[in-house]
Amino acid sequence: MKNKGKYLRSGLSLVMLAGIIIFNSCSKKEEAFSNRKVSFNSDWSFHLNDSIADKDTIGASTKWRTLTVPHDWSIEGKFDEKSPAGYGGGALNGGLGWYKKTFKVNAADSSKVTSIIFDGVYRNSEVWVNGHYLGKRPNGYIGFQYQISPYLNYGDKNNEIIVKVDNSKQPNSRWYSGSGIFRNVWIETTDKLHVAQWGTYVTTPKVTVQKASVQFETTVQNQNAASKKATVTTTIYKEDTKVASVTQDITIGANANQTIKQQTEVETPVLWSVEKPELYTAVTAISVDNQIIDEYKTNFGIRDFKFDLNKGLLLNGKQVKIKGVCMHHDLGPLGTAINTRAIERQLEILKEMGVNGIRTSHNPPAPELLDLCDKMGFIVMDEAFDMWKQSKTKYDYGNDWDKWHKKDLIDQLLRDRNHPSIFMWSIGNEIPQQWDESGVIIAKELAGITRQYDKTRPITAAMNPPVNMNLDGIDLQFDKAAVQYNKIAASGALDIIGYNYAHQTYEYHQKNFPKTPFIATETTSALETRGYYDESSDSIKKWPVRWDLKFTDGNPGNTVSAYDQVQAPWGSTHEATWKIIKKHDYLSGMYIWTGFDYIGEPTPYEWPSISSYFGIVDLAGFPKDVYYMYQSEWTNKTVLHLFPHWNWKAGQTVDVWAYYNNADEVELFLNGKSVGVRSKKGEELHVIWKVPFQAGTLKAVSRKNGKTVLETEIKTAGNPSNLKLTADRSTIKADGNDLSFVTVDILDANGTLAPKANNEINFSLKGNGKIVGVCSGDPVSHESYKGSKHTALNGKCLVIVQSDTKSGRLELTAKANGLKPATIVITAE
Ligand code: GAL
Repeated sequence: MKNKGKYLRSGLSLVMLAGIIIFNSCSKKEEAFSNRKVSFNSDWSFHLNDSIADKDTIGASTKWRTLTVPHDWSIEGKFDEKSPAGYGGGALNGGLGWYKKTFKVNAADSSKVTSIIFDGVYRNSEVWVNGHYLGKRPNGYIGFQYQISPYLNYGDKNNEIIVKVDNSKQPNSRWYSGSGIFRNVWIETTDKLHVAQWGTYVTTPKVTVQKASVQFETTVQNQNAASKKATVTTTIYKEDTKVASVTQDITIGANANQTIKQQTEVETPVLWSVEKPELYTAVTAISVDNQIIDEYKTNFGIRDFKFDLNKGLLLNGKQVKIKGVCMHHDLGPLGTAINTRAIERQLEILKEMGVNGIRTSHNPPAPELLDLCDKMGFIVMDEAFDMWKQSKTKYDYGNDWDKWHKKDLIDQLLRDRNHPSIFMWSIGNEIPQQWDESGVIIAKELAGITRQYDKTRPITAAMNPPVNMNLDGIDLQFDKAAVQYNKIAASGALDIIGYNYAHQTYEYHQKNFPKTPFIATETTSALETRGYYDESSDSIKKWPVRWDLKFTDGNPGNTVSAYDQVQAPWGSTHEATWKIIKKHDYLSGMYIWTGFDYIGEPTPYEWPSISSYFGIVDLAGFPKDVYYMYQSEWTNKTVLHLFPHWNWKAGQTVDVWAYYNNADEVELFLNGKSVGVRSKKGEELHVIWKVPFQAGTLKAVSRKNGKTVLETEIKTAGNPSNLKLTADRSTIKADGNDLSFVTVDILDANGTLAPKANNEINFSLKGNGKIVGVCSGDPVSHESYKGSKHTALNGKCLVIVQSDTKSGRLELTAKANGLKPATIVITAE
């Protein structure tokens, strides 16, 4: 039954008039479902000034700049060795920022309830409307809302909102946090009788192929001064089709909340899985006298899962290995200002590699990330904290712990618990207090709160395993006695113990504690610079052995070999980690540190490095070679990836690696002459040839039963000659938000990538749009990500173009001294 029209209602839209925002009613079809909430992102004024600490002194004379949020002011700054944020924080400054905005509200809304919703402000935000103080929120990662109706002027009179964001006390993070209103802002307008904030909880307690029971817990809020009789109808839709509906009459007291439980069934449910992430929508309608006065949409999925002691994760009865990655929240050159397309691109790149899991290390993510994980099929570990009461950096959230942790955790649970992609809660990462009783008390408290709000998912915490860390590069020694040291693991507070690193622990654990489930919450911490190779690749290097290591001999500096041969001493190479995870069914999977490089924590080097080397994908979004190892293991896609490049000194012996699958063997040819046939033996994940360099063409052919499966070639490149531009999407939406990610390749005269080219590239854009980010993925670059020029790393660079609200042609040109320029057209429509 096509029923979509039923839940369309006239709602709110934003109209811009003379620079002032007005909310008013409309019935635009595209606003079905979302019209309770409208974007409040545009036309903010911003001022960065540490010296103004009081809102009453920000005065009219202060210089303001107009911008659209989400906004991260730190990313606009200069990398600074002396930045109080430290290298850990990406050597970018925090500071104190002020945002303000003027707006009007329709007179008709004066009988309604209006709230302002912030999805996240980093950090210590304080908000005023028309001079009235609404409150403070120290935690930068959690969403919050304030009801503003009592303080609003309606009709022609202006309203002013002021937001103070204080990220001046540094350091307060072990990674780059960004600063400002870095997530979306919304205005929500409802009837006085309405579904409360995060007021629905949808669960599917019993799922079979024939039938799923679906339960709704709905909190209705009555802000009228009189009690109300109403009907609450919850209807389930699969796309446009009405699937089931359940109705209940209620009487709710004046200024009261009431939670009701409803239950229904879905026949032959379409189950959510990583391959087919099928979603349903529950629409909660509140009616009074047969008139719908409030509607609230909740996306959910129907799936059945359990973590089995011997078989790992069973999703809808099928064993699924979690092929997960940890991700920090920055979006590379865009900083931490969220953009849905930028998150989607990251997830697309990871999905292509075979990733099916995301750990939101180490904080609640932007809501858009969770929506995308629901839609794209990722198994999410939603993590709350990187520290509890005991701080890891001087001014971090540990200082706010006592006052805020309960509320922050509850809000995360209420906000996130309907997402089908979330399969477990993590209440913390490597909490220092894990080694003493104070940690046990807090773990029990947090686990208790979590179970109170959601009993459908297991609780874990990412903990340090029982090993002696030996930073001299000697193998980690497993320490049996230390099993007792980790008090939280031993306390029974968690449903699943989370081990970070030390895969040496897994087999010991399974043998000695076969009844205590555990999961690899964090693994690997291997290191690579994209496109850079140290010969030879035979030995495993554990870095940082010393933090003062600087430039390697004859190389551009602070580089790490992209053969999978370098790891942090507490971690392991990609191959070593995957081999063990792959081997045992009882290991439900892993979350690799990390999917993408991130700003800050520049291990294994410090300054001048400012971003990480941990990513399987670099900061610009370009895969490093090991990406293809995973692709060959984790996807059905046929892979043959040959590396390194083929520009070396004559006679030098070069290790040539190939990752491949769906074939029995690979033969390598140098200038037409066979160098040998190789095939992976036993557990091997790649093949290798040692080849004396000779300029020309290196060609690999993979074969199955004697038949060619794939061929690939690498050629010696001549001098850099041309620029080539390739857009990930050449048509984007003209919505002022959408992005086209354009890759710049530096090629020789024959079209071969110049693998060491590091030319500075200048960009210009014609048309209605702007360049919003440039990046090469080089952790040592101190050029601004926000400029219009950038130096390439090993033949590649990225430029990001954003649309305006006007449609038309965007013409991007890239130029570099001595190279043939390139132009590409992107259409915004
Ligand atoms: C882990 C930690 C991560 C990151 C990583 C680097 O111990 O949980 O946040 O610091 O080390 O290897």
